[in-house]
Amino acid sequence: MKRTLTVNGAGREVDVAPSVSLLSALRDDLGLTATRYGCGRGQCGACYVIADGRAVASCLLTVDQAARMEITTVEGLATDGTLSPVQQAFADLDAMQCGYCTSGMLISATALLDRDPEPDEAEVRDALAGNLCRCGVYGRAIRAVLTAAEALR
Ligand code: FES
Ligand code: FES
Repeated sequence: MKRTLTVNGAGREVDVAPSVSLLSALRDDLGLTATRYGCGRGQCGACYVIADGRAVASCLLTVDQAARMEITTVEGLATDGTLSPVQQAFADLDAMQCGYCTSGMLISATALLDRDPEPDEAEVRDALAGNLCRCGVYGRAIRAVLTAAEALR
């Protein structure tokens, strides 16, 4: 069944069963592979996208549900090749190791700063709580989000 998804500001048509996950449609049908598959059960945060302003697990959203939302993936964070402040801070502070969790963290951080440009450390920790990192870069990731918040002021 054809559905039009609004992804990174553009309408993108997919032809899949309505119950297919948004994560599958992004990766397999639209070629937006920066959104990662981790657990497939809403527990790791690797697949987070921004949907109507909130960081959500795209593995738990169906294409049918997503078709009524504005979706932003990591591919939509940079502008004309310039990294977003959150992306730049993660790069500058080396806030990644293997990088598998990074796109989900960038999404959570971006959603946080969009709704609260001046978070304290506890709020950043809370925003990243759903993003599991097997490499344990939490400290650097939290500093990167606080640095990005400063850059945005
Ligand atoms: S793959 Fe979606 S939360 Fe883990
Ligand atoms: S940097 Fe490896 S899982 Fe987070």
